[in-house]
Amino acid sequence: MRSYSFTLNGRQVTVQAPADMPLLWVLRDLLGVTGPKYGCGVGVCRACTSHLDGAEIQPCVVPVADCANRTVTTIEGLADGDGLHPVQQAWMDCDVAQCGFCQPGQIMAATALLKRTPRPTDADIDAIENICRCGTYARIREAIKKAAESGG
Ligand code: FES
Ligand code: FES
Repeated sequence: MRSYSFTLNGRQVTVQAPADMPLLWVLRDLLGVTGPKYGCGVGVCRACTSHLDGAEIQPCVVPVADCANRTVTTIEGLADGDGLHPVQQAWMDCDVAQCGFCQPGQIMAATALLKRTPRPTDADIDAIENICRCGTYARIREAIKKAAESGG
């Protein structure tokens, strides 16, 4: 066990963990941050999608040792203060969620896409690999376009 410190959603945290413990386990089991969901644990379903130094990651396949002294953002840290992030607002406006399980990961993937590509095409949106068992893909596409129009 070693000690790892990183910035999580704007605050400094330190955890004692094995170097190879996946960040998702650290977030959910050690730090009580449950927005990133556990689906497959092997980097495929993308329910856990979060950001490391502003870029999309799947924390189920990122060892905590790789996050030392870096910045981790989960869905809990996306909004600035009490207001919703523009992508979250677009999600609400388009009533995207069904069961909701995949949605934190979907929103974090969409936010990362809009950062890379502020005006995404349908092909750009379809390249998002996050799985939704409820099939909300059409509303996800609508919400991403709405967020892009609002500068999200
Ligand atoms: S839990 Fe499926 S990609 Fe992380
Ligand atoms: S809203 Fe149910 S899995 Fe996506």
